[in-house]
Amino acid sequence: MEMTQCPAARQEAFIQRHQGFDVEVNLHHGRLYHVVFDEAILSRFFEETTKVNAQHLEYVPHMRFMLASKLKELFGQQLQDVLRGILLDRNSGGFTLGVQNVASTPDDYVKFGTAVSHLIGPGNFDSMSGTYYARFLVKDTDKSDSYLRQAYRLFTLHTDGTFVDEATDWLLMMKFEERNAVGGESRILHLDDWQDLARFAEHPLASYKFIYKSPPSKNMAQMIQRRTFFKMNGKFCISFIDQFVQPETIEQAQYLHDLSDSMESAKNTATIPLPVGDLIMLNNLFWLHGRAPFQKNADLHRELMRQRGMFSEA
Ligand SMILES: [Fe+2]
Repeated sequence: MEMTQCPAARQEAFIQRHQGFDVEVNLHHGRLYHVVFDEAILSRFFEETTKVNAQHLEYVPHMRFMLASKLKELFGQQLQDVLRGILLDRNSGGFTLGVQNVASTPDDYVKFGTAVSHLIGPGNFDSMSGTYYARFLVKDTDKSDSYLRQAYRLFTLHTDGTFVDEATDWLLMMKFEERNAVGGESRILHLDDWQDLARFAEHPLASYKFIYKSPPSKNMAQMIQRRTFFKMNGKFCISFIDQFVQPETIEQAQYLHDLSDSMESAKNTATIPLPVGDLIMLNNLFWLHGRAPFQKNADLHRELMRQRGMFSEA
């Protein structure tokens, strides 16, 4: 699939060299930044955290913040300030970064992703995995009950956390492995780049509390009521996924259908490649994400980790 770039104006407010890391432009999206670490210092992160493994992080929540603290110790308070600043900046709200080939095991990827995410705030419980992160495989065949692992379908644009009652302020996706994969890139859309935002956000149903129910694989029996659009700092934010929202009338169904259709045809939706060992972190309140379909391949194998969570008080 050809990469589609978003023509949004290049954001430059955070571009700067810091002690131990540089903030650069993300070459695939004008709103995103790319952070590059000093490799020697990054290696020290892994050398000095060898005693921590993924199971330890699953069982002991404070260890997740201890990893974040190690990143701060190595790269300075500025790293936290910059990453938080980018995520909270309405004009951007996202960045990519990676392990830069200094690590390559799943345990190291979990540790690194956790350290980065916990500079921002605590990870939410992921009911699909039973812990604060989920690793999921996409392969040639799948019998699941949502589009998450169905390789050859377009995964429509949505936000995460619609059917949990915790706030889901941020989303992190990290690539662990990829073989025989063509296509399948992340598709992302910033709300302010969507031409129909006002039409749907100012609609009478924009603030209607729709019921959200998740399929059995999500292990969440509860029902949540959520308004689709809400304002934060005077700007529209969104909470939406077409698969789990339950309209009660034809009129409501039409609104949701038109909303999803409009997003899917938004010309500013961009596809972003994510190399193995890299992660993307987005503000989940004003970014939508989805996935392009993969090209058919019997040996397709791709594994991603996701984490979602809240902003902690600064
Ligand atoms: Fe998602």
